[in-house]
Amino acid sequence: MNKIDKIYEGKAKILYTTQDPDLLIQYFKDDATAFNAAKKGTIHEKGIMNNRIAAKIFEYLAGCGIPTHFERQLSDREMLIKKVSIVPLEVIVRNRAAGTLCRLLGLAEGAALACPTLEFCYKNDALGDPLVNEYHIRALGLATDEEMTKISGLALSINGHLQAFFRKLNIELIDFKLEFGRAKGDIILADEISPDTCRLWELGTGEKLDKDRFRRDLGNIEEAYQEVLRRVSA
Ligand code: TMP
Repeated sequence: MNKIDKIYEGKAKILYTTQDPDLLIQYFKDDATAFNAAKKGTIHEKGIMNNRIAAKIFEYLAGCGIPTHFERQLSDREMLIKKVSIVPLEVIVRNRAAGTLCRLLGLAEGAALACPTLEFCYKNDALGDPLVNEYHIRALGLATDEEMTKISGLALSINGHLQAFFRKLNIELIDFKLEFGRAKGDIILADEISPDTCRLWELGTGEKLDKDRFRRDLGNIEEAYQEVLRRVSA
C-alpha cells in the first residue's frame, strides 16, 4: 500500500489516499501543539511512539468489540486506516478533574468525579473548539440524535475498556479525547489514542505520562511517551 495524494494535514498527523478508495494512510508527525496551537514544538520521535501506542490500543479495543478505523501498522510512522467522514466533534471522557474542567468548575486537579463525564467540543480551529451540548449539536446539524446515542455509548464503553487496559500497566486513565467517523452508514472510532490525547498518571506516584509534560514544560517528555510505549508493548 503506497501513499498517493495528501488529502489532509493536521497538527500531529497527515492523511494520504492509497490505491484503495476505502483506505487511507495516517502518518504520525513529531509536531506538538497545545492551547489551540498557541504553543508549538516537536517531541523527538513522538510520531513513531504514538503510531505504535495507538496501534496497540486500537487492536485491544477491536478485541473488545469496538468498531475502529484501524486496519494495520504499515511502518514506523504510518498506519492503514478505513476512510471515514469525521463527525466534527471532539468527544472528551473524564474520570477525574484535570485541565479545562478544573478551570471551568473551579475543581482541584485530580478531584474525584462521581461518575465518568462526557463532553463534546465542536471541531473548529477558528473558534478554538468550543464546548457544545447536545442541543447545539442538533441545532447545527453536527450529528443526528441516533449518531449521538451511538457515540456516547461507544465513548463510555471505550472508557471502561481503556481504564482496565491502563490499570494493568499501573496507569490511571484520567481523561481522553476521541473522534468518530461515519463509514458505510455506521459510526466507528477514528483518529488516534495516545499520550497526546489522554491524561495518564502513574498509579501511586501520580507522575504524568502524557502531553501535559509538554503543555506545562514539565521536562522528560520523550521519556514519558517512551515509558507508555514500553508498558503497552510488554
Ligand atoms: P482538556 O482538559 O484540555 O479539555 O483535555 C481533556 C483531554 O482531551 C486531555 O486528555 C487532552 C485531550 N485533548 C486532545 O486530545 N485534544 C485537544 O485539542 C484537547 C483540547 C484536549
